[in-house]
Formats: sequence, structure tokens, C-alpha cells
Amino acid sequence: MKSSWKVSWLLVCLFLTGCQMSVLNPAGRVAEEQSRLIIFSFAVMMIILLVVFVLFFRFLWRYREDSRIERPPHTQENDNKKLEITWTVLPLLVLLLLAVPMLMQTYSLETKTTQEEMTIEVTGQQYWWRFDYPDENIRTAQELHLPANTNITFELNTEDVIHSFWIPQLGGKKDAIPGRTNELHLETGRPGVYEGKCAELCGAAHTDMRFQVVVHEEDDFTEWVEAAGQDVTPEENETVQEEGARVFQENCLACHAADGAATKNDQGPNLALYGERDKISGSFANDEEQLKAFLRHPNDFKPSTDMPAYNNLSREEMDALVNYLHGLTRENVQGGSD
Ligand code: CUA
Repeated sequence: MKSSWKVSWLLVCLFLTGCQMSVLNPAGRVAEEQSRLIIFSFAVMMIILLVVFVLFFRFLWRYREDSRIERPPHTQENDNKKLEITWTVLPLLVLLLLAVPMLMQTYSLETKTTQEEMTIEVTGQQYWWRFDYPDENIRTAQELHLPANTNITFELNTEDVIHSFWIPQLGGKKDAIPGRTNELHLETGRPGVYEGKCAELCGAAHTDMRFQVVVHEEDDFTEWVEAAGQDVTPEENETVQEEGARVFQENCLACHAADGAATKNDQGPNLALYGERDKISGSFANDEEQLKAFLRHPNDFKPSTDMPAYNNLSREEMDALVNYLHGLTRENVQGGSD
């Protein structure tokens, strides 16, 4: 490889490290421990690097061509116990230094903490995530809502291929493997919105198999749970436009539920409180223009998605539908149910 190519690749790698998902900005206990581990191993590596470089330049200088030091005779040294023991024992110590805290951390992730507070069933499929709250009896997709400062057990499943569930700022990640349930124990910390992602190459739209994680204050979370489970069967809800509700019923309801009651249709992602979501399908800004473009040509956004194109809707129908979807907010849902 030419050296200019090498430099270009190095630059590309540097730019890639600038992606927004940071494991070094933890927002929960597990992630904090993991980021401490990263910083610790990085420090160990830097110390080794420093020693190696100092020696390298020292030898480079000391044994340079015009040095006046008398060079050692060109003899092969066959036996030097002291040296051999040193370069065997030193790396062993370094490996132990790295291995012990890492193994401890890995095993601590496997064990449930004593005060387990919440279980969420996560199901990955090409290319979206379903989230079931068995205790609350609700379901949502692409936007995971969690209470702050809580221990959470994620039960990871998949409907098709292997996916990997990862929320960098909360810690992780772990694979969802066909035919078995993997458990991941994390702890939320401060409230905020975090990025989640599938971390296992799973097909054409793997890159866009993202989700949002909204960590709420406790009261706010309870409010969200109540609102998400509200029945917003379109005909019963007067606060969202009738025409939009009709278009939704005729075109979308067969696959998507508009509320999070866990018994609803869910071939496609659940759309509970869709109007409050920041992202379409967990990946693209949820504004009017983009949502219309997504509904007309979902395949342009997510290659090989199961979502059919709705290019057959008239402009008025599309306007009404987008209005309806963006009207699915806590305010409307609760208002509509009294
Ligand atoms: Cu699912 Cu990558």
C-alpha cells in the first residue's frame, strides 16, 4: 500500500471515531465502570508505548552510523537467562493487570443485582426493535423509555437473524440469538436521551437499525406508561383528525398499533405516542417532510425493509395521515380518553 493511502486511511479512521455514540460519556453505573476500564487499559497501553518509544529512540541515537561508541562485536548471544525471564514475566504481569479487572467486570454483568427492579423484553428483527414491558403490560418500538436510577434486566430475543443490543452510554452490548434468550443487566442513571444501535451486521439496513433511549424522572416515566397504554383506536379518539384516523385504519392498522396496549397487532413497529418521537424508525428526524418521504418510499431510507411503499396515497390523504401520526402525543391521548 502506498504511504499516501495509508495516511488517508488513518484520517478516515480518525473521522470515524467522531461518531455521536460515546462510551466515554456514561449515563449509568455499568457504563461508568466500563468506561473506567477503557481508560485504565488505555493508560496501561500508553505507558508501554512510552517505554518502547523511549528505548527505540535511545538505541537509534546510541548506535547510529557515526556514533563514536565502540560497537559490540557481532556475536550471537545464545543464552541470557536474565533477559529471557524478564521478557517473559513482564508481559505476563501486564496481561494479568488487564485481565483481572476485565474478567471481574464481565462476570458482574452476568449476575443479577439483588434489587432487580424492572424487566424489559427486547426483540430484534430486520430492521427494528420491539420493547415489551411485561409488568406494565405495554409495548413500544424504536423508542425505549426507562425510569432513571433503576436496575433493568433486558431479555434479548430475535425474530430472525443475530442482532446485538447496544446502548453505549448505558453499557453493554449483548447479542440477540435465534432460539434463546440472553439477559443483559444495566442500570440507568441521569435522565436524558441516548442513542441505541444494533451492533451486529444483520443485513442491508443494519446501519439504520437504531433506536432512541429516553430515560425519564420517575414521575414522568409513570405518566408515559399510562399514556402509552391508552387506547387510541382511531374512531374513539376525537382529538386527532378524523380523516387521518381513517387513512391510518385503512392503510396502516393491519401491521401497526397506534397505542401501546400489548395485545394489539404488531407485525410492524408499535406506534404508541409516535408524535413525541424524535426519530422516524429510530434513525431519521421525525419532521413532516421526512415522514412523508419515508411513507412514500421507505426503501430509500431502509433498504429491504418489510414496510411497503405508500405512494398511492393522494396528497390530502398523506397530509392527514402525517397529521394524525404527529398528533399521537401524551396530551392528545389523555385528552381523548376522558
Ligand atoms: Cu440488526 Cu444489525
